[in-house]
Amino acid sequence: MDELTTLGRAAGPHGEVVLRRRVSGSSVVEELVVDGTFAMDSRETRSEQELGLVAAGAGRVLVGGLGLGHTAAAVLDEADRRGADVRVDVVELEEALVGWAREGRTETLARVAADPRVRLHVGDVATVLLGSDGGPAGPWDAILLDVDNGPDFLVHAGNDVLYTEPTLRAAYGRLAPAGVLAIWCQAPSPPLLAALGRLDPSAEEVRLTVDREGRRFTYAIETVRRPLARKPSGGAAG
Ligand SMILES: C[S@@+](CC[C@H](N)C(=O)[O-])C[C@H]1O[C@@H](n2cnc3c(N)ncnc32)[C@H](O)[C@@H]1O
Repeated sequence: MDELTTLGRAAGPHGEVVLRRRVSGSSVVEELVVDGTFAMDSRETRSEQELGLVAAGAGRVLVGGLGLGHTAAAVLDEADRRGADVRVDVVELEEALVGWAREGRTETLARVAADPRVRLHVGDVATVLLGSDGGPAGPWDAILLDVDNGPDFLVHAGNDVLYTEPTLRAAYGRLAPAGVLAIWCQAPSPPLLAALGRLDPSAEEVRLTVDREGRRFTYAIETVRRPLARKPSGGAAG
């Protein structure tokens, strides 16, 4: 029988947030539940880590949201592996979750919150990107977004603004030259890929097949890259 331990419970902007640990035999899994809806667990986090690896080589990274911290941890681990400098801004809507990270209520959250390369910000990442909320301003070499299931399967209706053209354009505008914007989706999203393609033809989709508890899922990471700034032409030669 599973043993459930509540690690944190608080009211938040999207309803009650619960962080808990489920122990089943030798398996220990952390779970995040928001407003009674399962947000994620730590059973299979390969796709969250893959999102972090999109930022490989990036010096300044924005991660929205924190979740259980696996995307941010992957960014840090990859920078360590490369011996590279990195600064990570994490924007998370749930103030309580940021507090639990600072208090070290799970191992991964503790590691991310205690890392001096990380700044944790409480806020809505869409308003941060639109510049209407203060918060960090960029530019970033990588912007990694995993705040909802993707535009076609929203857990929170209010997150639809994140996937609209004005917000995507604002995010793209906060990329440094050669920067990358990457968005995790629960399934491939042709409309989102098309919207990113309108920002730059570099838009592409990587599909990740994940097996969870006997079921197979195809997640997707949609990306678009900003070109390297071109030097001004400087007038006619000779
Ligand atoms: C699926 S989890 C992210 C998982 C994360 N990639 C990881 O590796 O653990 C989604 C997170 O985004 C947060 N969130 C939801 N809407 C948000 C918003 N508009 N701005 C910032 N964070 C948001 C949720 O509270 C939750 O912590």
